[in-house]
Amino acid sequence: MGDASTTGSVKITDGNKGSTDLPLLGGTVGPNVIDVRKLYGETGYFTFDPGFTATASCESQITYIDGDEGVLLHRGYSIDHLAEHSDFMEVCYLLLFGELPTVDEKESFVKTVTYHTMVHEQMVNFYRGFRRDAHPMAIMVGVVGALSAFYHDSTDINDPHQRMVASYRLIAKMPTIAAMAYKYSVGQPFMYPDNKSSYAGNFMRMVYGVPAEEYELSPTIERAMDRIFILHADHEQNASTSTVRLAGSSGANPFACIAAGIACLWGPAHGGANEAVLKMLEEIGSVDRVGEYIKRAKDPQDSFRVMGFGHRVYKNYDPRARVMQMTCHEVLNELGVEDDPLLELAMKLEKIALEDEYFVEKKLYPNVDFYSGIVLRAIGFPPEMFTVLFALARTVGWVAQWNEMIADPSQKIGRPRQLYTGPAERPYVPIEKRG
Ligand code: SDX
Repeated sequence: MGDASTTGSVKITDGNKGSTDLPLLGGTVGPNVIDVRKLYGETGYFTFDPGFTATASCESQITYIDGDEGVLLHRGYSIDHLAEHSDFMEVCYLLLFGELPTVDEKESFVKTVTYHTMVHEQMVNFYRGFRRDAHPMAIMVGVVGALSAFYHDSTDINDPHQRMVASYRLIAKMPTIAAMAYKYSVGQPFMYPDNKSSYAGNFMRMVYGVPAEEYELSPTIERAMDRIFILHADHEQNASTSTVRLAGSSGANPFACIAAGIACLWGPAHGGANEAVLKMLEEIGSVDRVGEYIKRAKDPQDSFRVMGFGHRVYKNYDPRARVMQMTCHEVLNELGVEDDPLLELAMKLEKIALEDEYFVEKKLYPNVDFYSGIVLRAIGFPPEMFTVLFALARTVGWVAQWNEMIADPSQKIGRPRQLYTGPAERPYVPIEKRG
């Protein structure tokens, strides 16, 4: 870290206090930044940016997004190339260590992940405390948070070895915990991991396998799940990653930080959108009602939004959505679902929206969540599990970003300020004199 270069400066001029020069910093690619770290000390001013629409919260070398061009790079490799040529374990290695692994490095990495997939047997007891109809994301927040009570040998965040052990455990155990959440909801016995299976194959076997018989998985579905995990692995400083960074900046337990990320991802404006897309498509119901809903989406008085559309960063097609749409067709063909009415409806909705001047003017395009729900539903997942799969895949991004932050010597506890518009100081009024 610390590879940013000073590319100039900007002058802040204020009639009362004269002017201040603030350095301009540049990275490898993307917008330069105004370094405002000395702004308050020299001017007494804060910056104001609710929702951080124009704020770089950190320096990072993991993921780069060009929202205008619809480009997503992980350590410099485009998501399209990784989705086509790589696999999720290799992408995990790339995100964590910065380079694609050699054959030996990959073999060792996969083996280490594989041999951390079991959870402590007492973790089972946490599931028993939930109602069978609990939302699986509620279970994920609780059970992943509970991991912080089990692994005291990997919580000294200042020890790079312990940080890496915690990272392996999180990446390895998320599929097991997620599958257990599904099994609990359907009343089936939990399945233990199978070390002979691939990461995606192991997950699918723990979800859909039963102790009573061998589990067979189509290679097309296994590859599709692996690719879906790649598409969700990391995405720069999104809301849940920023949550993990902020929680981690206080030195909090790594498992608790990831639980905080899961909680943030659950929101329908973020990772919960995939579940919301499916519910939206089911509510629209038929192609002839699409116009009515597009009209509602454009009405500022109506809270309806076309879920799976729009993005804080992408003002072009989300490159992940293209790969997801292709995967959707592949899976539906494999499953013999030639004419899934929801896919037909989604494609019609996308076509109409992309031609509508409101969506064009506001640069609203399908994002990663628009097609993911359709393919996951076709594979057999209930909508409540969609965001669980997103959290499973995003765990590697969260831990890679968390590791980068902890290892950054310039890292401090995150503590934003505010623009205060509440009451100025006023005297206390005894209750008998109020009203
Ligand atoms: C993810 O940040 C990430 O990287 C997230 C993510 C990741 O991998 O981590 O990519 C995953 O969260 C994808 C986004 C999933 N959410 C949805 O699909 C929910 C629907 N989309 C929106 O709610 C919205 O687009 C957000 C929340 C995603 C972004 O919100 P912004 O940044 O506030 O708004 P925008 O730039 O997308 O929208 C600009 C305008 C706004 O109108 P004005 O205030 O300018 O009048 O377009 C409107 C929005 O109201 N708008 C929509 C819309 N999305 C935005 N109008 C109708 N339908 C929509 N879907």
